[in-house]
Amino acid sequence: MITNTELEYKGDLYPSKIVSYTQDVDSVYFYTDNNVILKLTVLRDSLIRFRFTTKGYFSNDFSYAIDKSHSHGYNHLEISEETTYYKITTTKIVCKIQKADLRASILDLKENIILEDELGFHWEECYEFGGNIVKMSKSSRDGECFYGLGDKATQLNLKGKRVENFATDQYAFQKEQEPLYKAVPFYIGLHHKQAYGIFFDNTFQSFFDFCHERRNVTSFWAHGGEMNYYFFYGPSMQDVVTSYTDLTGKPELPPLWALGYHQCKWSYYPESNVKEVAAKFRELQIPCDAIYLDIDYMEGFRCFTWNKEYFPDPKRMVSELAEDGFKTIVIIDPGIKIDKDYWVYKEALAKDYFCKRADGPYMKGKVWPGECNFPDFTNPEVREWWAGLFKELISEIGVKGVWNDMNEPAVMEVPNKTFPNDVRHDYDGNPCSHRKAHNIYGTQMARATYHGVKRFAYPKRPFIITRSAYSGAQRYTSSWTGDNVASWEHLWIANIQVQRMSISGMGFTGSDIGGFAEQPTGELYARWIQLGVFHPFCRTHSSGDHGNQEPWAFDEEVIDITRKFVSLRYQLLPYLYTMFWQYIEEGTPMLKPLVYFDQEDIQTHYRNDEFIFGNQILVCPILEPNAQGRRMYVPKGQWYNYWNNTLVKGGKEMWVDTKFDEIPVFVKAGAIIPKYPVQQYVGEIEIEELTLDVYYKEGKEKSVVYEDGQDGYDYKKGRFSLLSFQMTGKEKELSIQLHKDGKFNTNYSKFKINFIGLPFEVQKVRIDNEDVEFDTNSFNIEQSLLISKEFSVLHIIG
Ligand code: NOJ
Repeated sequence: MITNTELEYKGDLYPSKIVSYTQDVDSVYFYTDNNVILKLTVLRDSLIRFRFTTKGYFSNDFSYAIDKSHSHGYNHLEISEETTYYKITTTKIVCKIQKADLRASILDLKENIILEDELGFHWEECYEFGGNIVKMSKSSRDGECFYGLGDKATQLNLKGKRVENFATDQYAFQKEQEPLYKAVPFYIGLHHKQAYGIFFDNTFQSFFDFCHERRNVTSFWAHGGEMNYYFFYGPSMQDVVTSYTDLTGKPELPPLWALGYHQCKWSYYPESNVKEVAAKFRELQIPCDAIYLDIDYMEGFRCFTWNKEYFPDPKRMVSELAEDGFKTIVIIDPGIKIDKDYWVYKEALAKDYFCKRADGPYMKGKVWPGECNFPDFTNPEVREWWAGLFKELISEIGVKGVWNDMNEPAVMEVPNKTFPNDVRHDYDGNPCSHRKAHNIYGTQMARATYHGVKRFAYPKRPFIITRSAYSGAQRYTSSWTGDNVASWEHLWIANIQVQRMSISGMGFTGSDIGGFAEQPTGELYARWIQLGVFHPFCRTHSSGDHGNQEPWAFDEEVIDITRKFVSLRYQLLPYLYTMFWQYIEEGTPMLKPLVYFDQEDIQTHYRNDEFIFGNQILVCPILEPNAQGRRMYVPKGQWYNYWNNTLVKGGKEMWVDTKFDEIPVFVKAGAIIPKYPVQQYVGEIEIEELTLDVYYKEGKEKSVVYEDGQDGYDYKKGRFSLLSFQMTGKEKELSIQLHKDGKFNTNYSKFKINFIGLPFEVQKVRIDNEDVEFDTNSFNIEQSLLISKEFSVLHIIG
């Protein structure tokens, strides 16, 4: 029995015995005595979908989360009947369905249980809403761990927790607070070094319980809709996460500038203030690519209007900012002010595009502009109209990105903070109430915004950021973690949330650096920026209630630290961009929690703070005041301390000394880390050489560097450059083999190679098997070489 938080418990119902089954290509239908049908579909050898109905037939199959271009197709599917169960076998797994009650168990080919139903599918009739509360319970084994679920503000391993998915505007949320802004009903289970995943694709309010209510049971349930879930087999977490990301989709590459540093506040206005902030970044030589306009740029908070007193000539301002390398990003909320003289309102009204209450009138709610109506973004025609609204902002004014906020959707002055349940939605031709559409409203808004910005920004790439999201939102938008607080605890939360989002398919995420609510001390701000530059999305934002949160709101030391770390991010742009490319190509998370990096090592299973940035850089933030360093777990292998190049052997917890202007950062031995020179914004300078920091190791290691035009879509036509380096280190020799792919010719012609940790004095340098002249003395002092990028094999011989 699973208790529900708000609804009176009415008793559970269960499937009865199977009376027949049929197979239709990749799907097997099991029919029970009491009208339950299980449709089991083999999408891939390691990916099975389970769909249940209690009505005797299935409703239209529609999902916003599933990416239509996901890969499917299996090598083998066999069904056989045993005495008490049916057995489905693929090349990766075996699935047994009990004849008595439809309970499923999934095993690997050696018959080890990966996941087994406890009660399995069951349901409760909900008299209040009509329909079912659909439930699933699985047996959980001792030592099993759980990860994923999007933006939850709790320990990374969810064992022992219960979480809720109901997108909510949660101002100044707290640790453990539920629910938050996003709904990502996907988790990864890990037991006996085998990982699997579950994606419960149901947009109703849903819950997951990881051995919280009962010690050996994991359950999930939703207040409506179907029990409809996907099972992914690993056995590595990487297989699970990449397969989930493939199913729910990947984004296109963002423009490179979007990976730069962004500055935001509620709000920069008037124009002179925006200009001052921008100029100060350049004066202090703190790199910055984007500046945000929060709601005050609008006329009375009416979306797609400008306050002409504060911003008399937005086009001129945006282009002047652009001359100095700043991209202007504006906020757009879903609430459209009820105002008969306002063009957006008039158009939506004339076209009947606003959401309606069940008994007729438009859904009305208060947000910043006062009383508003809200477009029904689940209607494709409304999305198309909304996309068109961006023409002026993007094509004429030159805005480069759009920030979607309040799209849970948030409503003020009502206890549930959102629409009433009875509001109607089109749901792309599957009309439904807000109970079903609530969790995907924000994603559909971001989707419409994405299509609009993309249309008018073309041939450049769009940039969108959203607060609310459901699984699949990553196809359209980046995201941030909402209204956090300037506290040490929130720095801990931000670190976990961004890692969690990363392994939940939604990697392009960051937190409001320094905290949105309240005032950070200089020390907290510095520690936050030191972490934030290692997050895929890197933006300072604050509510503005408490004064300023630009780097210069703090003392010189903090300004210097900010410059140092933001500059490091700009140096690492080719590394970060390569991470992003691996994410869009393979679905690989850009940040990897230690458990993802090495699931075999049980020491990693409960770690929260340390993570791998990309594949080869280990980062661990400082999360306390007055720290002189910290204890951390360094995963197995050899790692170079980034700041002093000393080599440490991992696989243990250790104390790492740091100064105020450092946090623990380690580079994996064998890595080749690409760097650009520091630029104040992307494209400020012509890159003349690519720096490669080569971290010697005895053995082999592969590194890649992806580059392209940094914007536009030529990369999709093969105009990219992919450098694959294979380093081989021996006692008295180091060789680097370079293989190139792609049709893009990078502007630089040379590599500046810095050697770190070479255990020998260099006697000879050989390029493509020819000895080259070089100055041994200066090499042995500088440990670096400048060579043409056109080489195939480089040998450094001792
Ligand atoms: C709430 C958002 O979370 C915050 O980032 C923004 O500044 C305010 N709304 C005002 O638009």
